Amino acid sequence: MDRAGRSPCSLLGLDTLSRGARIFGMSKPARLGLLGLGTVGSGLVEIVRKNAASIEKRSGVRLEIVRALVKSPGKARPLPLEQVVLDAESIFNDPGIDIVVEVMGGIEPAKGYILRALEAGKSVVTANKAVLAAHGAEIFQKAKDTGKQLGFEASVCGGIPIIRALSSGMIANEVDELVGILNGTSNYILTRMYKDKLSFEEALRLAQVNGLAEADPTFDVEGIDAAHKLIVLTELTFQTKATLDDLEREGITQIEPVDIKVADEFGFVIKPVAVARRQGDALDLRVHPALVPFEHPLGPVSDEFNAVMVKGDATGEMIFHGKGAGSLPTASAVMSDIIEIARNPSSGVMWNPTKSRRVNHLEGRSRYYLRFPIHDRSGLIGKIATVLGNYGISITHALARLNNGTGNVMIVTHETSETEVCRALAEITAAGVLSGEPLSLRILE
Ligand SMILES: NC(=O)c1ccc[n+]([C@@H]2O[C@H](COP(=O)([O-])OP(=O)(O)OC[C@H]3O[C@@H](n4cnc5c(N)ncnc54)[C@H](OP(=O)(O)O)[C@@H]3O)[C@@H](O)[C@H]2O)c1
Repeated sequence: MDRAGRSPCSLLGLDTLSRGARIFGMSKPARLGLLGLGTVGSGLVEIVRKNAASIEKRSGVRLEIVRALVKSPGKARPLPLEQVVLDAESIFNDPGIDIVVEVMGGIEPAKGYILRALEAGKSVVTANKAVLAAHGAEIFQKAKDTGKQLGFEASVCGGIPIIRALSSGMIANEVDELVGILNGTSNYILTRMYKDKLSFEEALRLAQVNGLAEADPTFDVEGIDAAHKLIVLTELTFQTKATLDDLEREGITQIEPVDIKVADEFGFVIKPVAVARRQGDALDLRVHPALVPFEHPLGPVSDEFNAVMVKGDATGEMIFHGKGAGSLPTASAVMSDIIEIARNPSSGVMWNPTKSRRVNHLEGRSRYYLRFPIHDRSGLIGKIATVLGNYGISITHALARLNNGTGNVMIVTHETSETEVCRALAEITAAGVLSGEPLSLRILE
């Protein structure tokens, strides 16, 4: 106690919340209306069912799921049928619902429903990175105008509390750089190609069988999902508006088993990375596969796990690692927003992407891994090396893998500029000496 009789907890502002939990009958209600009752929605139901009592004890928030909106009648549901509805207005118009949880996905009607819920005086929690990447500014403006909260912890990296870390834990920092593995499906596929020696197609099928990839995996394997998440992180961290067109984006579909094997022989593992880097007044944003040294912090991040490395000017480098998707990890992140809003309805994440920075893919320098598909012809490797040399690209490792006169030449370069690599590859391709498209991957140092 200090002289005024305040406890150390009170001085730190910590005891208000737990007191609510301790004094019987003082819990704050969080009455939830769910938009969607699929993977994440069902995870929420499970968490409420299993942990509501202990959550109430620890947080002082009493959870109650009032009802859930779905699209298709007749499916088995984890809630009693009278709580499952097909009419969204019955959620927006219910004064007994405090927080609307959007876990349906997609752009519309999700965006319209989020705006409608805010207009109806509800706070909203969403797990939907696609809608935030496309319409985040409008949605946050509506939250501001209506004085309501908008939680989006689950929209990036599922169970990893990266939004709270960036918006609160690291608020004292200017962030210079953020590098992560933001898509669990791509990471799982590349991991299976590496550990089980599968082809891309086999690894993708395994991901689908294990519920880690959609029937149409385009968003995951073409880097769109990671790009959505990078936009959310960028707008939050750098307060700068970004769009899909601002990003350089490459998927993982062109990676072949030979790339995985040769990268391994050279001391690297191939990872699907997303990078946001401040360069003076501009931001460099990219999503692409890259060779990562075994000893790099992202090197051991395997299977469907995600990780984000953040470099703050005060903290230095931090790394966040965990499950980036799945019913319960994602529902756990949704729940953290619900509890935060119920405890403190006037708190909120600062989302203010108003800084006018040049946002695009900027010319960068790095080492490169290059693969040239060839038919065995004498002098071909020399020709490739000569063109690279003409563009000032020097080679640290080179090897050829040929079978029955066909195969690939793999090269690792010293640090060089992206422009020079592109020009050299264009000249080699135009010379008509290759049997397919060359591949270039950056090496993340
Ligand atoms: N799954 C994950 O691991 C994960 C991780 C992080 C973030 N997220 C995000 O969380 C959100 C939900 O993902 P999910 O995997 O739970 O999706 P999901 O399993 O496909 O579930 C979607 C739910 O929304 C309902 N729904 C869809 N469109 C609707 C409409 N027009 N009207 C009414 N209901 C509609 C569906 O109804 P029916 O049941 O009748 O079809 C279903 O219950 C997405 O934004 C996703 O990106 C998911």
